[in-house]
Amino acid sequence: MAYYQLLGLKKEPFSISPDPSFFFRSGSHTQALQRLEILLRLKRGLGLILGDVGTGKTTLGRVLVRAFQDEPNVAFHMILNPVFQSEFQFLEYLCKTFQVTSPLRSSMDCMEALQNHLYRRGVEEGKTTVLLIDEGQNLSSSLIEILRSLLNFETNDSKLLQLVILAQMEALPRFQRIRNFMDRVALKYILNPFGEEETRRMIRFRLAEAGARSEGPLFTDDAVRLIHYRTQGYPRKINQLCQKAMEVLATGGRRVVDVGTVNEVSAEVCEGVEEA
Ligand SMILES: Nc1ncnc2c1ncn2[C@@H]1O[C@H](COP(=O)(O)OP(=O)(O)O)[C@@H](O)[C@H]1O
Ligand SMILES: [Mg+2]
Repeated sequence: MAYYQLLGLKKEPFSISPDPSFFFRSGSHTQALQRLEILLRLKRGLGLILGDVGTGKTTLGRVLVRAFQDEPNVAFHMILNPVFQSEFQFLEYLCKTFQVTSPLRSSMDCMEALQNHLYRRGVEEGKTTVLLIDEGQNLSSSLIEILRSLLNFETNDSKLLQLVILAQMEALPRFQRIRNFMDRVALKYILNPFGEEETRRMIRFRLAEAGARSEGPLFTDDAVRLIHYRTQGYPRKINQLCQKAMEVLATGGRRVVDVGTVNEVSAEVCEGVEEA
């Protein structure tokens, strides 16, 4: 039996998979999402979402795709990790993803075919094509150059390709060094960790989502405060810490996670998190 079942829950409340149904709408996540939606609806072109590891970029991407899932005029294409052996391989991949069927022998062929495709989809069929790239810090300079060229395809008032890049903060200086790339950015947003109150609400939200009944908290107030302090509000760390604490709860016969429980489990989770 899984630990959460022992605690009367239906699902794992603190799974670290990027599951949109466990997405808590913090101030920063809500704003990022709203701005991305506007970017896509107005077809502004390039949105760049930056954040440290574990701030929720991948999850945000999934939530964004889900927000548009009932809109047949918006087609999302995702690249989970943009590592390709060559420019041609990347372009070939894009053509395949966009279901471009013309014969492709060179990068030039691909660019031309992509341009025709995006024009047909965008102008003749009135559809929005979105390319969402996760792990954007892994984009090489030459791939960024290609993306920049794709963003040049436009009508008088909108871009033919909407590009959303999710990347770790450390990528920013490199992006900034690539000439004319940052000029193309219509939205740049930095995803921040949660504040203490958001940490509290996120824990409560995830427990409720997992089927916790509302009578009596499973975490004391002080425990939540300590969780926030130890994790600095990073969602991934919060999940890992809460999961470990709940496991202790399930196996140790205790009723609530208190400061003692958090202290017991935080060493293995919070290594490397700088304390304020
Ligand atoms: N807004 C959120 N609400 C609840 N959990 C979140 C939220 N954002 C991220 N998480 C959780 O944090 C962990 C890391 O998220 P992830 O999207 O993989 O971060 P990143 O891609 O920035 O490294 C996952 O367990 C995810 O479920
Ligand atoms: Mg990620």
